[in-house]
Amino acid sequence: MSGGARTTLSVIKADIGSIAGHHKAHPDTLLAASRVLAEGKKKGIITDFYVTAVGDDIQLIMTHSKGPNSPQIHELAWDAFKEATKVAKELGLYAAGQDLLSDTFSGNVRGLGPGVAEMEFAERPSEPVAIFMADKTEPSAFNLPLYKIFADPFNTVGLVIDPRMHDGFVFTVLDLYEGKAVDLAVPGELYDLLALIGTTSRYVIKYIHRRDGEPAAVVSSERLNLIAGKYIGKDDPVMAVRLQSGFPALGEALEAFSFPHLVAGWMRGSHFGPLMPVGLKDAKMTRFDGPPRVLGLGFNIKEGRLIGPVDLFDDIAFDEARREASLVAEYMRRHGPFMPHRLGPDEMEYTTLPDVLKRLEGRFRPFDLGYKPVIKHEEL
Ligand code: 13P
Ligand code: 13P
Ligand code: MG
Ligand code: MG
Repeated sequence: MSGGARTTLSVIKADIGSIAGHHKAHPDTLLAASRVLAEGKKKGIITDFYVTAVGDDIQLIMTHSKGPNSPQIHELAWDAFKEATKVAKELGLYAAGQDLLSDTFSGNVRGLGPGVAEMEFAERPSEPVAIFMADKTEPSAFNLPLYKIFADPFNTVGLVIDPRMHDGFVFTVLDLYEGKAVDLAVPGELYDLLALIGTTSRYVIKYIHRRDGEPAAVVSSERLNLIAGKYIGKDDPVMAVRLQSGFPALGEALEAFSFPHLVAGWMRGSHFGPLMPVGLKDAKMTRFDGPPRVLGLGFNIKEGRLIGPVDLFDDIAFDEARREASLVAEYMRRHGPFMPHRLGPDEMEYTTLPDVLKRLEGRFRPFDLGYKPVIKHEEL
């Protein structure tokens, strides 16, 4: 481990309302959030910050020295989202305050709605990181790319040829139903890992550490639909990944997104669609409120300062992935309201199924060879 200054990287995100539907955050809301963080920087609460958005989700990227779960940092983020919500309400933006499930801050934003990805580490002399932020999907959308980045040598050749990565990584996997977590060391427990994280509706990667304990990646794995007990806002995720010098190379992290895999959360949080990697200029939701998109920003962290960002998917090398995503989007859309485009009944965030079943309750009759359909108009 390196002996540099200990820095905490906190990425906290929320959807506090957007323009013309669940399409894109309004620049004035980003400004309102930025003003609060600028004040926090002036007061020395945070060292640096960068505010961005993908679709209708605003991300506060912050550095500080207070460690994860700091009440002061979470309160600052909460205030930033509150101020942004005020602007959203004033402008009549759609679903203003969507992800702020409580009126008052109580020490920690976890459970209040915002998504949180935080890690603390001793800065290396050069500390490159990538932040990935997605809209119209869920935290387990990162399961597949994280598996590729940290466990698949066909994606990350560093696992084979970099002696500092050769021992592998430990994946912390959350069971969203039970509220429990399990740590699995790969490559040894690779198949157990895949047995879990392939079930994206239940198991979500939360942390990845190198075998020497160095944090490597963190995902915001809060699930708003479970927290709130009903659909209030989906859990569009963010994740931070440390890069280079004993971690995956930047290009290995990006490589994992060249396959636009199917993720849940498109239109009304109720459909599967391909995850399209985009630059900032395309970080907005259009077709069928999507397709689901992921934005990647790269930074260097130097004594807490955020150097950057660079817009990682804004490049011709990802044109084919985007084209493939468009083709897959078209193919999936043709299924209309049919599975597997539409999610299964337990996973949909909007559903009329219970109402329909209730209405038809008395009309379901035993079925056998003598069954006679009711077909006369007046009988229906
Ligand atoms: P570092 O070992 O300098 O992190 O980079 C490896 C590399 O060559 C990236 O492709
Ligand atoms: P968000 O979760 O991004 O607000 O989207 C909601 C939705 O239903 C879009 O179709
Ligand atoms: Mg929204
Ligand atoms: Mg969203």
